[in-house]
Amino acid sequence: MSGHHADNAGRADTGDARKIAEGLAYLSGFGNEHSSEAVPGALPHGRNSPQRAPLGLYAEQLSGSAFTEPRAHNRRSWLYRIRPSAAHPQFTRADNGALRTAPFTESVPDPNRLRWNPLPDPAPGTDFLAGLWTLGGNGDATQRTGMGIHLYHANSSMRDRVFSDADGELLIVPERGGLLLRTEFGLLHAEPGEVALIPRGVRFRVELLDETARGYVCENYGAPFQLPDLGPIGANGLANARDFRAPVAAYEDVEGPVEVVNKFCGNLWRATYDHSPLDVVAWHGNHVPYVYDLHRFNVIGSISYDHPDPSIFTVLTSPSDTPGLAGVDFVVFAPRWLVGEDTFRPPYFHRNVMSEYMGLIEGAYDAKAEGFVPGGGSLHNMMSAHGPDRETFEKASAAELKPQKIDDGLAFMFETRWPVTATEQAAGASHLQRGYDDVWQGLERHFRN
Ligand SMILES: [Fe+2]
Repeated sequence: MSGHHADNAGRADTGDARKIAEGLAYLSGFGNEHSSEAVPGALPHGRNSPQRAPLGLYAEQLSGSAFTEPRAHNRRSWLYRIRPSAAHPQFTRADNGALRTAPFTESVPDPNRLRWNPLPDPAPGTDFLAGLWTLGGNGDATQRTGMGIHLYHANSSMRDRVFSDADGELLIVPERGGLLLRTEFGLLHAEPGEVALIPRGVRFRVELLDETARGYVCENYGAPFQLPDLGPIGANGLANARDFRAPVAAYEDVEGPVEVVNKFCGNLWRATYDHSPLDVVAWHGNHVPYVYDLHRFNVIGSISYDHPDPSIFTVLTSPSDTPGLAGVDFVVFAPRWLVGEDTFRPPYFHRNVMSEYMGLIEGAYDAKAEGFVPGGGSLHNMMSAHGPDRETFEKASAAELKPQKIDDGLAFMFETRWPVTATEQAAGASHLQRGYDDVWQGLERHFRN
């Protein structure tokens, strides 16, 4: 693919952007040592930092892990760019808008079950960055632990500005409207039902492919997401590595003012560059953005009775220092068959040491007959009791247990090791549902002795 030049940098209308998005080529595989060049000969061979990099480019390493982390967790990429990232003016503080960052101290953690409707419509001219709204989170971004939960609702492409997040990687979960992500590594296309990941520190710009865009973001301050181990499942299954797609190199050769916004330890900082920093002509490495289509998820479940814990639906996991204990798991409830005999088939009643934020990308979720809508979300914090609502319980307890396809929805969960504190704006939001507890009222007493 050739480079993208000044005439379409950040100024493409949604039609042009969609054409670009649908024609993209990708590199295949999770965690691979990829390499790509937008101009033949731009990538040095046999060394990372030759005395003079090819084509007059600057060589720069982007480290996503400490130099000395074990090879299996070591992440870095080498970028060959028109100007080094160091060539920038001073950053000054910018308004944080509705973005908040851990530690979340403005309100107390709430043991109540909380559920929100979708974000209200944004003001005209709201782009992805301006449209980010923090629901809550945990941990501490400066300690690189925990996570933030954000939603976004945008009606405009980012124009002449790019964003990067030093605080964590961004797992973007579109729910409405396609996105074209122009990153330092090249372009990605993500539609609802797909997810995109922007690694820590990588600059990118979001262009809308439809009138509006809405969705969720997990900002993972901790260890980068990786594929879960499969244990007795074997060598294949769940999210298969080959289905993850990284971009091929594509660059902007843009001279002129570009606003660069950097999220750093909870605050936004901005600087006006005299060129686009999306000027990487070639790169190689494994600290790369990617997209994944959730419809490719290989759903594994019981073929006898009961169903496995929902960890069986883990797409990506951010491990902590404790084996098996995730900083955050990204879990998807994808279309699947239920065949369990003598089994209560919806998700069971549950109290969990982990905290669960759930969102809905499309359709309905099989434990909630109503009120949980696409673009909305629920938070079931540590040890808060949750499970199927009254209506779902009654129906599932009486249902004839034929093989049944669950195929009318795509829900997901950010499941995290620590309680989630809702932000003030989330705890007091007009779109917070009052009376969510009602869905568990009237569960009848059936006990007989
Ligand atoms: Fe649960």
